[in-house]
Amino acid sequence: MRLLKNVYLLSGSGFGMLGNIYGIVHGGRIIMVDCATDRSDLDCVDRTLAYWELDKLPISDLLITHWHNDHAGNAATIHRRGAELTAGLADALRVEAGGMPEGGDPFFPPYEACPVARKIGDDCEFDLGGLKVRAICVPGHTDGSLFYEMEIDSKICLFTGDALSATGLSGELPELGFRGSPEFSREKTVEGFAKVWNKRADALFGGHCTPVCENAEAVLRGAYQKALLEWR
Ligand SMILES: [Fe+2]
Repeated sequence: MRLLKNVYLLSGSGFGMLGNIYGIVHGGRIIMVDCATDRSDLDCVDRTLAYWELDKLPISDLLITHWHNDHAGNAATIHRRGAELTAGLADALRVEAGGMPEGGDPFFPPYEACPVARKIGDDCEFDLGGLKVRAICVPGHTDGSLFYEMEIDSKICLFTGDALSATGLSGELPELGFRGSPEFSREKTVEGFAKVWNKRADALFGGHCTPVCENAEAVLRGAYQKALLEWR
């Protein structure tokens, strides 16, 4: 599904699949955001890339929003295809341990361990072949959850993982994500949204539900309001 001139939804919502996988076309390569759970998600990615005649482009980078298996379960396969991985520090350690929380967890089955080249401990910017990426730490859903902010096709785009998705009839409602993660924290979630709620944003591409391509600031504001009302 083509969302912007250079941003595609490769699998997930609208394809009957759980986790959203995004592909950014930049400089003759694809930067992937999240990689979902298993082979069925990758089959969907490959069909979508072929449909848009992008299947000859290399996947150079995989930006992981958080360690959960429905977002990072295919990391090792994408890494073997040649991608370099980025994740928040705490979650990068989980990916490198195969998504295995200490003591295990009933909601999150383990997956194949995979090295993470770029571990993000603090808000920072890095460059992917001329595309400037700003990583914003928003712990709460997981300790190492990240937003990735980029300007693509003259739009400020936020890739937000499960920290924030958009739902509702027109994608107007904030969905703050699953609260059953072993390290889920209401306090950290509120602190995270306090940092980002008034950011400029055109597009908001969440880990599930509806990708928003315009006027995303209302969803960001709504997320902070919801977190304050329910969790402060
Ligand atoms: Fe999650």
